[in-house]
Amino acid sequence: MKRLYIKTYGCQMNVYDSERMADVLRPLGYGMTDRPEEADLVVLNTCHIREKATEKVYSELGYIKQMKLDRAALGHQMTIAVAGCVAQAEGEEIMIRQPAVDLVVGPQAYHQLPELIARTHRARGERLSAAFAADEKFDALPAERHADGPTAFLTVQEGCDKFCTFCVVPYTRGGEYSRPMEAIEAEARSLAGKGVREVTLLGQNVNAFTGGLGTLARRLAKIPGLDRIRYTTSHPRDMDDDLIAAHAELPQLMPYLHLPVQSGSDRILKAMNRGHTAEHYVRLIEKVRAARPDIALSGDFIVGFPGERDSDFEATLNLVREVGYASAFTFKYSRRPGTPASAMPGQLPDEVADERLARLNDLLAEQQVAFNQTLVGRTVDVLFTKPGRNTGQIIGRSPYLQSVHIEAPESLIGQIAPVRIDSAARNSLAGSAVLEAA
Ligand code: 5AD
Ligand code: SF4
Repeated sequence: MKRLYIKTYGCQMNVYDSERMADVLRPLGYGMTDRPEEADLVVLNTCHIREKATEKVYSELGYIKQMKLDRAALGHQMTIAVAGCVAQAEGEEIMIRQPAVDLVVGPQAYHQLPELIARTHRARGERLSAAFAADEKFDALPAERHADGPTAFLTVQEGCDKFCTFCVVPYTRGGEYSRPMEAIEAEARSLAGKGVREVTLLGQNVNAFTGGLGTLARRLAKIPGLDRIRYTTSHPRDMDDDLIAAHAELPQLMPYLHLPVQSGSDRILKAMNRGHTAEHYVRLIEKVRAARPDIALSGDFIVGFPGERDSDFEATLNLVREVGYASAFTFKYSRRPGTPASAMPGQLPDEVADERLARLNDLLAEQQVAFNQTLVGRTVDVLFTKPGRNTGQIIGRSPYLQSVHIEAPESLIGQIAPVRIDSAARNSLAGSAVLEAA
């Protein structure tokens, strides 16, 4: 249990706001204390109505600073936040005048307190300081990779700075961290040397890779033997033009994009803190399709987010109809302690979310079958990865990440060969080999 001390100045509005701040912080494990000297988090909810009121805040901050020093001497942290109207009026100036203050939060931003506090803690290197921890972790891993078959994962990025209001990742995995380009390239070369033909670049926000994912893809495409490059998961905000251009340029970059949208309703997207609208997402998809017309699209969707109305859910269905997905992952909203959405009003009953989930799944299943059907009669390159369940059968992957079964000798495993697709089901395709393996 962490301890929270809030001192409230001024009017009733501030009294109310202080209660709301306590509400927002409770899911993060903060309980109230009336003894500031033993608090992990001190919030001064300030009043700016007169100069005297403002000055009171600075003299109080002087006392609190001393308590913070005393606590630090005992090995404990204290976070000091200034909220309310002085925060609104003076902003970061407060931290210049009193450097012991960790964060300043105006009355319109109290719902962001969990995010601001997590950022403060990260900056101090508390918890998983991702920049540090991830760095150490990758340095501690051997550069040589063990390869088990013709496909492999390669982590290029970890962590998340996006703070979607439903998601625990920014709290648990820390901030965005990208590995050095050279280290990734070396690992990819090592994998290719061991017979890996397809590499999937991984990251919670893989396209936030600071070296530029398009640049990385171009460099990896030069590695002999590495014929296929994939990446996941991407965020719409980081889908830059250079990465889209790479899809047009590089045959190695597979025509499959997992780009979560979560919802098709701008109201809900805003409450989710996604940082994009439905329109922005649809335009992005248009750009990607202009670069690579045959690209297979995949997404993540959440139904039953707090406050989701029928009309919001209909907007999600409409977006799905407009985009057309080859595959998708759907989730019923799950209330995660410590996330801002967990404290939002309008939490929905299970039955409502279940019903929406079923309708969304039906639509996406229809689209998946339709997409798979478009392959029937066509010839596609398949990377054979493993023996099938039935003898004489092997399984591979199409460029669109579909599972393909054919009757062929196991010696083809690890090879890429053209396959004519004969039939399609929801989760796999069946085909026959048309030529010798390349
Ligand atoms: N409830 C439901 N789905 C969630 N996801 C993340 N957090 C939650 C949550 N609290 C989903 C998102 C994300 C995927 C990896 O998991 O759709 O893209
Ligand atoms: Fe970050 Fe993805 Fe979670 Fe959003 S859903 S906070 S982008 S990990």
